[in-house]
Amino acid sequence: MSLPSSPSDPAAVRLTGVVKAFGSGDARTLALKGADFTAAQGELHLLVGPSGCGKTTLLSVAAGTLEWDEGQVDLFGTRLNDLSPSSITAFRRRHIGFIFQQFNLITTLDLVENVSVPLLLNGTRRRDAEDKAAALLARVGLAGRERKRPSQLSGGQQQRVAIARALVHEPRLLIADEPTSALDRETGHQIMDLLATAARSPGRSVIIVTHDPRTYSYADRLTEMEDGRVAGVHHGPALKDFISIHH
Ligand SMILES: Nc1ncnc2c1ncn2[C@@H]1O[C@H](COP(=O)(O)OP(=O)(O)OP(=O)(O)O)[C@@H](O)[C@H]1O
Ligand SMILES: [Mg+2]
Repeated sequence: MSLPSSPSDPAAVRLTGVVKAFGSGDARTLALKGADFTAAQGELHLLVGPSGCGKTTLLSVAAGTLEWDEGQVDLFGTRLNDLSPSSITAFRRRHIGFIFQQFNLITTLDLVENVSVPLLLNGTRRRDAEDKAAALLARVGLAGRERKRPSQLSGGQQQRVAIARALVHEPRLLIADEPTSALDRETGHQIMDLLATAARSPGRSVIIVTHDPRTYSYADRLTEMEDGRVAGVHHGPALKDFISIHH
């Protein structure tokens, strides 16, 4: 699905009053309690907050992978509320990359095949897809390991495969749930450089959930969540103050 050209430069992501409950009866958990969240185009946006506050839930709604109960979700000016489930899937395949908290690699495929999946889903020929996948694996430091299976890699290496897979189709929106959690210092900075470059390209955006203070200096904007809601947004000098307090 093509996107409308955006003369008014709408937000990459805008969630308005989003409510999401899991379960029912005594087991009902209200994970999002009317969350208002905006991520601009051309920015690397961090999402922080205590465990269980709703970060993964919010990003799953923004990625179109989780249905929500109330509120509006707009991506690059397209209202997901108005799309059918199959249109949301088509939109997601074309425009969104997602790095999951548990990497979700396909264990029966080798690394090149794993990274090729988003391109194949969008109709790229296998040869071209695998060439692109191999080039991106090299950029995340995995050259020479293309034909290994995920189970033959360390946690940090698997995380880098997941990052390559999320970037390979050059999505307009990249959503990453703790992309540096399993990485050493040096690799973590390489990956953040790669993500920041993707974020600051015109018409693109990257949103990262993180508990890792090493990522803070890469942020253009930072949203704090608390108990199912957005509790604060920091940018400019206020973001510098936040970083100096929490680093
Ligand atoms: N599939 C699910 N079924 C039931 N409850 C869920 C489900 N997913 C999340 N929850 C609940 O929703 C709330 C928010 O969870 P979420 O995973 O969004 O938190 P989080 O901020 O990502 O936490 P963490 O930092 O630990 O990853 C939690 O209370 C959690 O137990
Ligand atoms: Mg989470």
